[in-house]
Amino acid sequence: MSRTRAASLRGLFAARSRALPPPVSPGCPVAEAHGLGVRLGGREVLGGIDLTARAGEVLALVGPNGAGKSTLLAALAADLRPDQGEVRIGGRPVDAWSAPELALRRSVLPQAATLSFPFPVEDVVRMGRAPWAGTALEDEDGAAVAEAMAATEVTAFAPRPFSALSGGERARVALARVLAQRAPLLLLDEPTAALDLRHQELVLRICRERARAGDAVVIVLHDLGLAAAHADRTAVLHDGRIAAEGPPAEVFRDALLSRVYRQPVEVFPHPRTGVPLVVPKRLS
Ligand SMILES: Nc1ncnc2c1ncn2[C@@H]1O[C@H](COP(=O)(O)OP(=O)(O)O)[C@@H](O)[C@H]1O
Ligand SMILES: [Mg+2]
Repeated sequence: MSRTRAASLRGLFAARSRALPPPVSPGCPVAEAHGLGVRLGGREVLGGIDLTARAGEVLALVGPNGAGKSTLLAALAADLRPDQGEVRIGGRPVDAWSAPELALRRSVLPQAATLSFPFPVEDVVRMGRAPWAGTALEDEDGAAVAEAMAATEVTAFAPRPFSALSGGERARVALARVLAQRAPLLLLDEPTAALDLRHQELVLRICRERARAGDAVVIVLHDLGLAAAHADRTAVLHDGRIAAEGPPAEVFRDALLSRVYRQPVEVFPHPRTGVPLVVPKRLS
């Protein structure tokens, strides 16, 4: 059998066994949590969570340490099974998808991904393409890897061992791997934590571009200024519950944030853009 014929048969088989995700109209739900509850170590870590990630939107999850942001993201990713409620991705309960089908529908950047791959950077990014092997879109592997590396400004590191990069450089490579996966739902846990000012903005611009292209982006952030400037909606988590949800300009109020963070803050509009700025209240 010719290689071309073998490849097309493989493509046909894959297309039948693994339907590729169809495009979703802007504003339509891509991931939904309904009545979500999670217990860990005998404690309720999340309770009564209703949240929807929509196509074309950047949704920021904010809240103090231990509020449940990473747990919620893991539940939305179907990496953690909830004790109550359900998560739906692409309109179906997550249990209805096989692992390869899920991998085409959502990509996940875990918090502080302590990956210490001894592989060249380019190979690490290429791992993001694994779900597409044998599908009709396998041909896009090279372009997807190159585009993700260029977007995160890691192209120059391509041949270097991942383990020989700085923390911030590794974080960008880990993000490139997730972008190369080209899933319509991106779940990013503190992707900016180790990054300098320029690269924090770069990551949020990438999120905005992915949303403009029709994807749903859920991003855990500590920097409320970044969330205010770039997110369409934000959910403030507090003790495993959603304390407030909506556009940042509506949600970021000093009383709410001061209570949730147990730190008096002031919120005022940026003099030029009007975007809320959140700063700790200081005496002088
Ligand atoms: N495996 C676990 N066992 C017990 N408690 C856990 C476990 N993982 C997380 N927790 C607790 O759940 C709460 C929420 O954690 P997490 O979702 O990581 O918070 P966040 O990301 O908002 O900082 C924290 O109090 C944390 O200590
Ligand atoms: Mg976390």
